[in-house]
Amino acid sequence: MPENTASSKPFLTDVKTLRDRARQHLESGDVTQSYKGDVKRTIEILQSVLATEIVCVLRYTMHAIAATGISSEGVKDEFAEHAREEQEHMMAVAERINQLGGKPNFNPEGLLSRSASQYAEGENLVDMIRENLVAERIAVDHYRELIRYFGDDDPATRVMIEEILVVEEEHANDMHDLLVAHEGRPMLQR
Ligand SMILES: [Fe+2]
Ligand SMILES: [Fe+2]
Repeated sequence: MPENTASSKPFLTDVKTLRDRARQHLESGDVTQSYKGDVKRTIEILQSVLATEIVCVLRYTMHAIAATGISSEGVKDEFAEHAREEQEHMMAVAERINQLGGKPNFNPEGLLSRSASQYAEGENLVDMIRENLVAERIAVDHYRELIRYFGDDDPATRVMIEEILVVEEEHANDMHDLLVAHEGRPMLQR
């Protein structure tokens, strides 16, 4: 076997060190020992993302049931589909908190103050669509910031948020299109 030369890439940890490290830190149970970010802070941030997603599940679920009127059938389906997707996000974020050694906070008490998005029922179909659009835009802005924040310090969390962001952008787009369809013009600039 040829000897390692100066051109071999020095930033790759050798297998033996990786194995030793993994064994040494078996007790800590999770990914934290090679974690470059601030785990406690990450968990705090993810608790807020979790609350945001839970509020989105609740709001879309309520809207899917409460939407009435002749033109609401397609919209109800859309709300229900979003509620399911928000629930997937909720689960992914809760799992990540758990992996990092935290306890996902599902406590309904204080939920709204932990959440970035609001819970608004809306008086009618157009109101509901508008409230969802606002909530999606808040989520999109918040998650874009978080992606920059996590950067290379926590690629796993960053990638998870990136995947959620793609869906939130679709949600915002769907709500925008529904608003145009039901109101003739968007209330908010795209
Ligand atoms: Fe979501
Ligand atoms: Fe969403």
